[in-house]
Amino acid sequence: MKYDFDQIISRKETYSTKWLKFSDDDVIPMWIADMDFICPPEITSAMSERIAQGIFGYSEIPSNLTNVFVDNVKNNSGWSIQKDWVVWIPGGVVGLNVTCKTVLAPGELAMVPSPIYAPFTEAPENMERGFIKTHLFDSQGRLEFDMDAIETLLTDDTKLFFLCNPQNPGGTVFSEGELKEISKVCEDRNIIVCSDEIHSDLILEEGLKHIPYASLNKYNEDNSITIMGPCKTFNLAGFPIAAAIIPNRELREDFKGNTKGIVAHIDNIAIVAAEAAYRDAQEWYLELLEYLKTNRNLLLERLNNIDGLSLKGPEAGFLAWIDCSESGLDNAANFFIDEARVGVYDGAWFGDKNYVRLNFGCPKSILEEAINRIEKAFSQRN
Ligand SMILES: Cc1ncc(COP(=O)(O)O)c(C=O)c1O
Repeated sequence: MKYDFDQIISRKETYSTKWLKFSDDDVIPMWIADMDFICPPEITSAMSERIAQGIFGYSEIPSNLTNVFVDNVKNNSGWSIQKDWVVWIPGGVVGLNVTCKTVLAPGELAMVPSPIYAPFTEAPENMERGFIKTHLFDSQGRLEFDMDAIETLLTDDTKLFFLCNPQNPGGTVFSEGELKEISKVCEDRNIIVCSDEIHSDLILEEGLKHIPYASLNKYNEDNSITIMGPCKTFNLAGFPIAAAIIPNRELREDFKGNTKGIVAHIDNIAIVAAEAAYRDAQEWYLELLEYLKTNRNLLLERLNNIDGLSLKGPEAGFLAWIDCSESGLDNAANFFIDEARVGVYDGAWFGDKNYVRLNFGCPKSILEEAINRIEKAFSQRN
């Protein structure tokens, strides 16, 4: 490998949210979704050059950024998008919120398949809109749609469907068949789909491919907002930059209108980082994928030997959604944190307290130490 993913970097001094969360230094933080790998050097050198210019101010989005992004979408998923469909926004969560404001009138609802990354349910509330939850069910470790429940729960006021593909926290890569089912229901009822595909470059499962929801057909393209970005792929989380892909001109103009005066300008350095990522960091990215696959496989192999725990995925990303429902623990997250000293994310935040989410985007030695601790804590129970 050309890049050193084994390197251990102390992150407390960097004001890392992840590493400052637990007051007890002995807890290994594995909760929020950023990785403990150093940023690709190709990106840091581009940022350093930009900083050395010493002058900043408001900045236009260079057409080169959109060009490399459009190429990346094509290369990774086969979807050909036009440059003018891309609206750059300072973050994926911003996109979820602006989408609610754009698509939903007050009183209208979004459908949110849960468990899911909490900002999907927070966004309608932030915008004083409502939402209906439908459950995703666990099928052999894959979170899947319950189409009957979706059909039953949808009301005439439901105008937006929130899709998260690959899914967070479950890591499901939705198949063409699954996406078509959602597409049919939404087309029948004139529902706009907002598909958050921020994890879509990180497909781990051999033979699977990311299929953008909007790429299925022209109708989907015209009735969707797709969110993608470099933050997960290149470990640029915290940088305010993501892309909303909105092929429908009217929807796009409404979306842009709703950003005015509220949504911040995109940061000078974030622009440079994103462009360098898509242009220069492909080799780093391919090595990262291999590293993540090895980490995931290690976790799968060892966690499934622990009584009461079950893990099947993820098919994509660096987040493991661990089923603790057979463990007999009332509060699984507290057990991981207090007894194993592994700082997982409580599944309750995503909508299911019987699970914990563990971030394995870290050097293998840290992951091994975490697994050792989990094994020991479970073996010493009672
Ligand atoms: C599905 C999904 N969307 C959006 C985000 C956050 O994006 P941003 O930090 O760009 O707002 C995350 C972060 O974990 C995520 O998992």
